[in-house]
Amino acid sequence: MSSCVDGLDFNGYFNRRNQIHAESGIINAFARPSSKIMAKHAIRIESIAPNLSPSIPAQLGFGRHFTDRMFTHRYTAENGWQDPTIGPYHDLILDPAAAALHCGQMVFDGTKAYRRPDGDLNLFRIDRNVARINRSAERMGMPAVDEELHTEAIETLVSLEHRWMPNIESASLYIRPVIMATEPVLEVRASHEYLHYIIVSPVGPYFPDGFNPISVFVSHDHVRAVRGGTGEAKTPGNYAASIAISEAARNKGCQQVLWLDAVERRYIDEVGAMNIAFVYGDKEIRTPPLSGAILHGVTRDSILRLAPDLGFEMHETPMTIAEVWRDIENGQITEAFGMGTAAVVAPVGALVYQEREATLNGGQTGPVARRLYDELTSIQYGRAADPYGWTTVVPVAVDEQSLAMR
Ligand SMILES: Cc1ncc(COP(=O)(O)O)c(C=O)c1O
Repeated sequence: MSSCVDGLDFNGYFNRRNQIHAESGIINAFARPSSKIMAKHAIRIESIAPNLSPSIPAQLGFGRHFTDRMFTHRYTAENGWQDPTIGPYHDLILDPAAAALHCGQMVFDGTKAYRRPDGDLNLFRIDRNVARINRSAERMGMPAVDEELHTEAIETLVSLEHRWMPNIESASLYIRPVIMATEPVLEVRASHEYLHYIIVSPVGPYFPDGFNPISVFVSHDHVRAVRGGTGEAKTPGNYAASIAISEAARNKGCQQVLWLDAVERRYIDEVGAMNIAFVYGDKEIRTPPLSGAILHGVTRDSILRLAPDLGFEMHETPMTIAEVWRDIENGQITEAFGMGTAAVVAPVGALVYQEREATLNGGQTGPVARRLYDELTSIQYGRAADPYGWTTVVPVAVDEQSLAMR
């Protein structure tokens, strides 16, 4: 089976496109052509009036603008997942009693497509994101989605929507898959109906004013997640729980909140929607282990793999806020940074904890954060070799009709 546009073969486009690239040598030594691009599932692709030059606002913000199309896929307990479709971006019609709106049975994920120097797109470690949404779904008692179909939906969607990629440095298409419970039922139990959808948002550089450090408020009174809870899942409740304290932190001039463990309020968990690392003596990088309460970050995992190859010692080790504070003050900790898809690497310039402030690297971006950012983004954007096999090349499509004509 293959994806169809008005009954024509969409998969043929990808095969042909891969062949053209292979013949012309456009896929260079850095590229790893993906076998997953060979479509196997019947994704129905509805034609929309082609938007050949979308107007992309100059001030993009993060996740505020969305492309013309979206993917949808519905589940019922009787029939399983049905009717995977890419069609126009549209409002959702939900029963006001839809279970996701009441007991929060809902998960999401976030990944990005990057423009390669040859004009095609790179997805980064997409297998990890796809596996993670299913792990999140399992934790929330929801049915898994087919990983190949989900990957194919992402590839097809970004291929069709590539014109929405902002034509500025460090731009990307942010991809947001969601699975939500749609059965109208107020009883607290697993829903019998779900909607799986994927939307795409053009985003600019996370640091529009340069790669500048953030200030971080260390939360003592509010916690994010507890071991055995839902901290390892990307489920909206975790993020809702962070909003009040994040707003309070913002009022104190801090852009992010650093979460301590929920039991002892001593161990460092993560920072906002990022994992965190501390640099000792410019050479050694320490990050808290995956305790059961923090998200298995794809960026964290990539830095764990990449940093030793760049000559850094990398350790997963529990760290208390008291030790970290001491080591900042005695100069052993030279830098700190967050790790996540949105920012990739976010240098931390200051920590604020119980009315005290500690400055890192004189409040400036440090060399380790910069190096890791440069190395990782070079792989993501296809500017450097990818010895890890992390990137999937997605050829861009002209429009649905021309896909079918090829
Ligand atoms: C709570 C939390 N921690 C860490 C991360 C970083 O994960 P990743 O690197 O996969 O974006 C995210 C972002 O998804 C997050 O929401």
